[in-house]
Amino acid sequence: MKFPSHINLPREAREELVELLNTCLATAIDLHWQVKQAHWNIRGRDFISRHELFDTVADHVRKHADDFAERAGNLGGYAQGTIRLAAKNSELEEYDLSAVNGDDHVRVLVDRVANYASVVRAGIQRCDEADDPVTTDLLTRILGEVEQDLWFLESHLYGSDATARDESSPPIIHEERTPGPSA
Ligand SMILES: [Fe+2]
Repeated sequence: MKFPSHINLPREAREELVELLNTCLATAIDLHWQVKQAHWNIRGRDFISRHELFDTVADHVRKHADDFAERAGNLGGYAQGTIRLAAKNSELEEYDLSAVNGDDHVRVLVDRVANYASVVRAGIQRCDEADDPVTTDLLTRILGEVEQDLWFLESHLYGSDATARDESSPPIIHEERTPGPSA
């Protein structure tokens, strides 16, 4: 362990927690810049709303990176948060640089944010095994925000193509508009 810590957890448990926090940190740093890539390069329909949504998601993920790094420090660990370390240790694939229109960018981000959510969820299970309710609570709060952002993103794709709906989704019904009561 890099630094002393008086937190009352066995050293092995703290080492395990720092390792998983560094994986989350690397993945969050990678995701933050992937979402920025989408924010800068999106064009087309709903430009402003998507451009702004992507920035909101990026801000959330940047804050998560800070939380992961500082919890690693609380536990006596060394945060591995340079760009090069993040690129090496991230669980995500590189951004799809062929994405141009809005739906392309949203599809890439849905995939990357869902993978990030899976990394955090797996971390929660490992925190439970290490018997650390504080890190469990941190990751659980972060996962709630990630899944909320995933909903905002994937809702943009609803009905746009087959990949946006699973088998159990209700069919899209285009009802004919009936004139309402006249004003
Ligand atoms: Fe911006």
